[in-house]
Amino acid sequence: MEDIKKRIDELVEILNEANYNYHVLDKPTITDQEFDKYIRELIVLEEEHPDLIREDSPTSRIGGTVLEGFNKITHEIPMLSLSNVFNESEIINFDSKIRKEGINPHYVCELKIDGLSVSLKYKNGKLVSAATRGDGVTGEDITNNAKTIKTIPLVIKKPIDIEVRGEIYMSKKTLESINKTREENNQPLLQNCRNAAAGSIRQLDSKVAASRKLDCFIYHLPNPEDYGIKTHYEALQFMKDLGFKTNPNNKLAMDVNGILDFINYQTENRVKLPYDIDGVVIKLNNLKEQKKMGFTAKYPKWATAYKFPAEEVLTKLTDIIFTVGRTGQITPNAVLEPVIVMGSTISRATLHNEEYVKSKDLRIGDIVSIRKAGDVIPEVVEAKKDRRTGNEKNFEMAKRCPICNEFIFKRENQADYYCVNPVCPAKDIEGLCHFVSRKAMNIDGLGDHIIEDFYNLGFIKTFYDIYHLENHRDSLTLLEGYGDKSIDNLIKAIENSKKNSLERLLFALGIPNVGEKTAKLLATRYESLDNLRKATIEELTAIPDIGEIIAKSITDYFAKEKNINTINKLKDLGINTLYTGEKRKEAEDFLDKTFVITGTLVKYTRDEVEEKIGLLGGKCSSSVSKKTYAVIVGENPGSKYDKAIKLNIKILNEEELEDLFKKYE
Ligand code: IVH
Repeated sequence: MEDIKKRIDELVEILNEANYNYHVLDKPTITDQEFDKYIRELIVLEEEHPDLIREDSPTSRIGGTVLEGFNKITHEIPMLSLSNVFNESEIINFDSKIRKEGINPHYVCELKIDGLSVSLKYKNGKLVSAATRGDGVTGEDITNNAKTIKTIPLVIKKPIDIEVRGEIYMSKKTLESINKTREENNQPLLQNCRNAAAGSIRQLDSKVAASRKLDCFIYHLPNPEDYGIKTHYEALQFMKDLGFKTNPNNKLAMDVNGILDFINYQTENRVKLPYDIDGVVIKLNNLKEQKKMGFTAKYPKWATAYKFPAEEVLTKLTDIIFTVGRTGQITPNAVLEPVIVMGSTISRATLHNEEYVKSKDLRIGDIVSIRKAGDVIPEVVEAKKDRRTGNEKNFEMAKRCPICNEFIFKRENQADYYCVNPVCPAKDIEGLCHFVSRKAMNIDGLGDHIIEDFYNLGFIKTFYDIYHLENHRDSLTLLEGYGDKSIDNLIKAIENSKKNSLERLLFALGIPNVGEKTAKLLATRYESLDNLRKATIEELTAIPDIGEIIAKSITDYFAKEKNINTINKLKDLGINTLYTGEKRKEAEDFLDKTFVITGTLVKYTRDEVEEKIGLLGGKCSSSVSKKTYAVIVGENPGSKYDKAIKLNIKILNEEELEDLFKKYE
């Protein structure tokens, strides 16, 4: 027993140290394989001896606890916000107020990270709690989720009691990659890094929080005098030495000019940063002087935040209309007076759900500010309440489906309303449009408008009606634009689609959460629609990249009689339901391994390489990490190549990759 405890201690220390070197210092000291070997050993030991699990065990980073809600945590020292300044004269004013107190100030300039603030408490060097800011006095206990953030140390380098504060954030790349997957799976996109970080940290399931790959910068020490620290800059160094990630851009400024130089540089540089910032924080460096300045009820008087001018544009919210998606989800949408934001005209923006509109108190007729979140999706930021005339109309959530006029419903604890009418035309039309779309059954000549027309004319109400369009030939010839030739072409395209691959059909069926990628994965694993029909949740979740949500969506889909009828009818029509592509192998060099491609490949397209790797049991990812098995390097490789070298990751050129493929032909 003593030996086991000793080994557990040893493993926890090795792994925590390795994690720090990799994630905080960006200087890996052990290989992926070694890390995995040690963590697996630790998992087994902890499973066998749960009483020996240490609070600071790196296995707590994997997540796994599912909470019913978050407990409250009271901040002994309130978590204050910062006053804002917006231009040079306000900065000069901030500096003058300090000088008026007889202080000759030096400042620390920091980036204002666009995330959410967190307070971390350590006892005897071990992380014991993490809390959100909340209302400044009481926040929420997010300890389980904070532990999944690799840059938050579970144990610090000195066995002391300490509280530190900082910002949890999501990098731009992570947001991009999460949104890419969400788009493929027809899930709503995360709006921007800040919302994505805040939403992720409030997940009740810490495994979900872990999958969001959050990060954390530490920038504030509430009790510096306890450690004999005299300046904020020293405090930052002290926290860095304890193992926290501090921002490398932090800089001392000797006067207002130093501050302005920092702001000018960071304004230019901000697009290049891997995370979003919304300004610069200016803090008086000397802690005695900070004390002298003191606080207002809300803010410290020794610090302020310079906010970058917002790239926001004002326009009028002329209406809020409702749309129905394929799953029956009802979404309120802002109809805007067209306005140009960052180069493109915006006239619509999603308002997500009732809660979202109400929390922003948007009223029809309001002047609203618009910005492009994450530089892509337009977002209504806020209503300009001071511009109200009194003629604005309050928002009311729809009670009925805008298309079929049936009542709509919301499940307890869910934000979205759904039209549950199984024969709602909106869902049918959306579903049909999806079925024939380019990445699904790819039927040329059946665009969204034509589907809608044919639906309303009663020609196509279901998937199988598409394949009986021929029966309406006489009526079709009466329509404008339909000669015998174009009808023949359309019928031919429809007939051809029967031979489509299983993965196309699977995607076309519109199973919630089954996007193109998942459809491909399922097709290669199950090889026929009938096999997939029999799959259980356990079987499905055992496949990498298929989680509970997707698995349940699939089994729910096949549990519905209506869907089975559809499938049977499609089969009777002669539509292919078998996998005809290359068979999946479990090749040793690829199985469960992650590859990253960088640079231009000559012999293969990226899609081909990704497909081949998938068929051999591996997968491709867009970013290099410790978990990457090998980086495939083409011509003119990008920074992923440098990172691979730095992390000591296997490099494969195209020929070497081809040789590996050949091994399994
Ligand atoms: S200092 C008493 N430093 O900005 C000191 N805050 O608008 C309080 N923030 O609530 C905070 N980067 O969430 C500080 N380098 C930084 C920051 C920062 C982002 C956030 C923080 C704070 C908000 C105030």
